[in-house]
Amino acid sequence: MKPRTAILISGRGSNMAALLHAAADPAYPAEVALVLSNRADAAGLAVARAAGVPTAVVESRAFKGDRAAFEAAMMAELVRHEIGLVALAGFMRVLTEGFCAAWRDRMINVHPSLLPSFRGLDTHARALAAGVRLHGCTVHLVRPGVDEGPILAQAAVPVLPGDDAGSLAARVLAQEHRLYPAALAWLAAGQVAVEGEVARIAAPAAAGALANPLPLAAPLSTSGD
Ligand code: GAR
Repeated sequence: MKPRTAILISGRGSNMAALLHAAADPAYPAEVALVLSNRADAAGLAVARAAGVPTAVVESRAFKGDRAAFEAAMMAELVRHEIGLVALAGFMRVLTEGFCAAWRDRMINVHPSLLPSFRGLDTHARALAAGVRLHGCTVHLVRPGVDEGPILAQAAVPVLPGDDAGSLAARVLAQEHRLYPAALAWLAAGQVAVEGEVARIAAPAAAGALANPLPLAAPLSTSGD
């Protein structure tokens, strides 16, 4: 049986939409059984409803900072829908140790940077400010530390001259939409093994290197002559 998967969102839900699109294929190994938002006004909820996926709202604001009570209410929804896997997709609440422990190795997140660089918010502006040449996104198993946990997959994009945070975010987001469905499929199909804090994927991996700007055709002389 396919693992019943909940997607947790806080906003527009474009990654959620990418997961729903992938899961519509009968061959996809996960079933999306619930979209849960911590905000009633999350735009992604309408997209989920239009796709015929059950939705639930647990308003984090209503809990006035009581994270344990907020998470207990979320957990009740997850149990009610017999959820086996959780995919965070732009879910903008920090989760407690207890919630992370309950879903250990069964909860994944997509983050818009090449972790462990640029944990937290405003990743694209911070990548530009740091002058990195490659930026990207990461799908990882969730641990209590913010944006920490065994990495399942990463995609790198070039930072181009003239980029601003918006153009860079769009380039990264296109890769999130490709990477996240693949990583959820590996987890759902039982192809992920965690050794220490390193995830091994029993799926074919591409070899090769990414470089940006491309290296010179002829190597720079380092001999001094
Ligand atoms: C995505 O870029 C996702 O990686 C990021 O929020 C955006 C949500 O967009 N998540 C985080 O920053 C979590 N640390 P979406 O709602 O369109 O999927």
